[in-house]
Amino acid sequence: MKNGNELFRDKVCVVTGAGSGIGLGITRQLLLRGATVYMVGRTEKKILAAGESLTEFGDKVHAEQLNVTDDDAFRSFIARVEKTHPVDYIFNNAGVGWGGFFATESIDNIRKVIDANLYGVIHGIQAVLPYMLKRESGHIVNIASLAAIVPLPLQSVYVASKCAVRGLTECLRYELAPFNIKVTVVCPAEVATEIFGDPKNIPPGAISIDQAGIEILDGIEQGKIVLPIVDTARRIYRDTKENPEANEQFLLQMFNHTLTGGGMTVKQFHDRVIEQIG
Ligand SMILES: NC(=O)c1ccc[n+]([C@@H]2O[C@H](COP(=O)([O-])OP(=O)(O)OC[C@H]3O[C@@H](n4cnc5c(N)ncnc54)[C@H](OP(=O)(O)O)[C@@H]3O)[C@@H](O)[C@H]2O)c1
Repeated sequence: MKNGNELFRDKVCVVTGAGSGIGLGITRQLLLRGATVYMVGRTEKKILAAGESLTEFGDKVHAEQLNVTDDDAFRSFIARVEKTHPVDYIFNNAGVGWGGFFATESIDNIRKVIDANLYGVIHGIQAVLPYMLKRESGHIVNIASLAAIVPLPLQSVYVASKCAVRGLTECLRYELAPFNIKVTVVCPAEVATEIFGDPKNIPPGAISIDQAGIEILDGIEQGKIVLPIVDTARRIYRDTKENPEANEQFLLQMFNHTLTGGGMTVKQFHDRVIEQIG
C-alpha cells in the first residue's frame, strides 16, 4: 500500500459539495497531495469562488456547478470528465443537515433530505461505476456521519439518510471487490462548517475542515472501510462494540440536552407534539 503523500499523487478525484466545509477541506488536502480535483457544488457562485481560492494549484483544479440530486446532470458531468481524465476517486460528500420532530415533519422536507443525502450518493456511484468496472480500478468514498454509527436523537431523518449511505457502502464492498474497486464510508463527528447554520452553534470540540480533510485522506491511506473521524466518533464507534451502555447514556443525555437547549422539558415536548398533530 502506498503511504504518505503518494496514494493520491496524479490521481483524478471528484468531490461533491466542495464549495464549503468538509468537501473543501478534502479538496485542499487532495491538491496538496498531488491529485487533480474536479470540485462540484450546488450554488454556482459559491463553487466558482471556492475554485478561485485554489488557483495556486493551476490546472489541477476544476470547479463547476452540479446539483447531485440531478441524476442526468451527474452522469453527463462524469461522462465529460472521463473523456480526458479517468476518475480514480469519487468523494460523495454533498449533504444537508436536519433536526426536529419526526412525527410533525412534512413529507416534502423529509424527501429533500433523502434526495440530497442518499440519492445524491446513489447518483454519484452509478455515474462512475460503468467506467470503474471496465477499468477494474477505482475508489468510492461516501461521507456519512456519526449518525450512521449511533441513532442521534431528534435527527431521525438525517440518521435514516446516513445509515442508508453506510449500509449501501458496506454492501458494495463485497459486490465491487471482484472488480478491484474499493469503498470507504466516512463517519465524522463535529467539524466546524456551515451545516450548523449560525457559527455560534458549532460545538466547542469541532475540528477544522483542513483537519477533517487530513483525517479522511490518512484513514483512506490506512485502508479503513468504516472511517470514524474526530475523537468523539472514534470513541463512540469503539463503544458500539466494547461499551454499548456508555453510548446509551450518551444518547439519552443528548436527547435531554437538545430539548433543554431549545428551552423545552420532555413533558413540554410531549405536549407540543400532541398539540401539533391535533
Ligand atoms: N460538519 C459536521 O460536523 C458533519 C458531521 C457529520 C457528517 N457531515 C457530513 O459532511 C458532509 C459535508 O457537510 P459540511 O459539514 O461540510 O457542511 P457544508 O459546509 O454545508 O457543506 C455541504 C456542501 O454540500 C453542498 N450541497 C448540499 N446539497 C447539495 C446538492 N443537492 N448538490 C450539490 N451540492 C450540495 C452545499 O452546497 P450549497 O451551499 O451550494 O448548497 C455545501 O457546499 C455532509 O454530507 C454532512 O452530512 C458533517
